[in-house]
Amino acid sequence: MKIVVFTGAGVSAESGLGTFRDADGLWEKYRVEDVCTHEAWLRNPELCVEFYNARRRDTLAAQPNAAHFAIKKLQENFPDTEIITQNIDDLHERAGSHNITHLHGEITKLRSNIDETDTVPCMGDQHYGDRHPDGSLLRPYIVFFGEGVPYFPRACQIASTADILIVVGTSLNVYPAASLLEYAPDTAKIYVVDPGKPEFGHFRYRVEHIQKKASEGVPELVDMLCKS
Ligand code: APR
Repeated sequence: MKIVVFTGAGVSAESGLGTFRDADGLWEKYRVEDVCTHEAWLRNPELCVEFYNARRRDTLAAQPNAAHFAIKKLQENFPDTEIITQNIDDLHERAGSHNITHLHGEITKLRSNIDETDTVPCMGDQHYGDRHPDGSLLRPYIVFFGEGVPYFPRACQIASTADILIVVGTSLNVYPAASLLEYAPDTAKIYVVDPGKPEFGHFRYRVEHIQKKASEGVPELVDMLCKS
């Protein structure tokens, strides 16, 4: 049984990391166009670096929650389970999960300004002006709005192999990530764990919506799958 888990900011909400579009979300406090677009990076790189330094500090101070650990347990019971995440935090990794594809980058890395996949580790504040070994200015390893999503083709290939697709904590507002559901086989069972109402579109009649917080709904779902 091939299980694919697709996560968004909601899986890390109970670890204290903000989501983007909830009432108290990050995009209520910051303008996307100031800190998370390609133009913002060109116009005001120091502000972008400062924004992601703050998010890195929050991430490093956070701990995985019961949902992250339940997903790790799922991988122990179904070893070829793959995780595709929109999140830049490392909480899946710190919960002990593996086979993780980050679609929108990773806060614990910086990247070359020339090669979008050439990264170096960063576990503290970035100092704007530091350079990558290739000589280019280092930048946050984040996919800004308006930039390509280099691992999206791989994510589509992974989704196309799913017998079960588990979607946790994403509003399904951002493309191309949200279109991953289209790549799951018609025969795949789709579970969604989210206390809110994601944009299901034509999937609304197909998904089994567990309308609970991740730390409650994911362990319940994993226990059911492990017993089945
Ligand atoms: N448990 C599960 N889901 C939750 C919880 C929780 N405790 N709290 C909130 N949610 C759900 C919300 O109901 C919503 O559906 O998490 C989702 C968060 O949606 P967004 O804030 O839009 O986050 P996400 O879907 O991950 O955003 C996608 O947008 O800004 C970009 O690159 C950024 O990766 C991000 C992308």
